[in-house]
Amino acid sequence: MTLSERIENIMPSQTLAITAQVLKMKAEGKKIISFGAGEPDFDTPANIQDEAIKAIRGGFTHYTAASGIPELKKAVIEKLKRDHGLHYQVSEIIISNGAKHCLYNALMALCNPGDEVLLPIPCWVSYTEQIKLAQAKPVFIPTNQENQFQLSAKQLEKSITGKTRVLLLNTPHNPTGAVYNPEELKNIAKILVENDIYCISDEIYEKLVYDEAKHLSIASLGSDIKERVILINGVSKSYAMTGWRIGYAAGPEEIVSGMSKFQGHCTSNANSIAQKASVEALIGNQDSIGYMRGEFDKRRTRIIDHLNEIKGFQCDMPKGAFYAFPNIKKLLNNGIVFNGQEIKSSLQLTEFILNKGEVAVVPGSAFEAEGYLRLSYATSMPEIEEGMNRLKKLFA
Ligand SMILES: Cc1ncc(COP(=O)(O)O)c(C=O)c1O
Repeated sequence: MTLSERIENIMPSQTLAITAQVLKMKAEGKKIISFGAGEPDFDTPANIQDEAIKAIRGGFTHYTAASGIPELKKAVIEKLKRDHGLHYQVSEIIISNGAKHCLYNALMALCNPGDEVLLPIPCWVSYTEQIKLAQAKPVFIPTNQENQFQLSAKQLEKSITGKTRVLLLNTPHNPTGAVYNPEELKNIAKILVENDIYCISDEIYEKLVYDEAKHLSIASLGSDIKERVILINGVSKSYAMTGWRIGYAAGPEEIVSGMSKFQGHCTSNANSIAQKASVEALIGNQDSIGYMRGEFDKRRTRIIDHLNEIKGFQCDMPKGAFYAFPNIKKLLNNGIVFNGQEIKSSLQLTEFILNKGEVAVVPGSAFEAEGYLRLSYATSMPEIEEGMNRLKKLFA
C-alpha cells in the first residue's frame, strides 16, 4: 500500500520517537529522567480553570464561529495593544487549535507550489514539514552559536530569490533560547519590506525572557512591516495551557480571511470552552506569568551551570524559552562506543545517554543542528539535579 506523495515526503518526528522509547523504558520499570517535553510542568492557573468550568456549566458547549468568538478576538486585540502597542481590527484576528495550527493555516494561505520559505536553522521540528505540506520549498539559512543563533540581515538578503515568499521567524527561539536583538530585527524588517516578502512571526515563547532580554514583535516596527507580518502566538507556553489547544494569529485581513476559509473546512472552530478560558488568560490576572517565569529562570541558571561541568559539554546561557542547547561536538567521533559503533551523531549520543544514563534528551539533528542536544528545563528542580548528576557520572 502506498500513501500519498505528500505524506510519504514528510519525516516522522524524531522527538516523538524518543518519547515512545522513554515510555517503553518507563513501562519496563526504569526511572527515566526526561528533559524531552517542550511544555510547562505547572498546572493551568486557577482563574483560567474557573472560566472553563463556568463555560461548561453555562452551556457554552456548541460550535462557535469557525474563526473564533468575538470576545476572544477582542481579548487578543487588547493584549497586542497592551504588550506591543499594536492595533488590529477583529477581521484581522483568527483563533485556531494551537499556534501550530495557525502556522499551518498561514503557510497554506500564502504559499503556492514551488514558493520558497526562508527558514533560519536550527529550527523547531514542525516548520520544515509544514512548509513541505503546503507544497512550498524550505530554504535553510544556517545561523551560528557565535551570533547567538540569530539570522543576520546580510544572510537574509543573500538568500532571497525571485521565488522567496515568506521568512519564518521564531523569537524567543526553540531550540536555542535565542532572543533577537532589536537592531537585527529592524534590519531584517527593512529587507523584508524592500523585497516585499511576508514574515510569519512565531512568538509563542514571548513571555519567557530572562535577565535584560526583552521580546520585541517584528510587527511593531512600523506600518510597512506590519502589513507583511502574520503574528502567531497562543496560550500554551505562557499560561501552562498546552492541552487546551488555543493559538491565535494577527495579520492583514485578506490573509487572515484566507486562513479562516481554510480552517472552516478542516477543523471548524477551536474548542469553545478553551476559547472562553483563554479570554481570562489573555486579559485577566497576569500574576501567574511572573511566578512561572521566575521558576524557569532559577532552573535555567542551575541547569546551565551543571551542563558546563559535564565533560565534553559547552552551553551558553539562553535568554529565552525553556531550553538548554549544549554544544556536544567534542563528544562526537571521539572514541565513545555504543552498541559496537563509535558515536558520530547527536542521535547516537541521545540513545547512549538514554540507555546508559537513563536520561532523555533530544538530538540537535531533530532541529537541523548536528553537534547539539536540546534539554527542556520545564521540569522540577529535583529532576534537574538528579538528571545532571547522572550525566556527570556517565561522562566522568
Ligand atoms: C516554536 C514553537 N512554535 C509553536 C509551537 C506550538 O504551540 P501550540 O501548543 O500553541 O500549538 C511550539 C510548541 O512546542 C513551539 O516550540
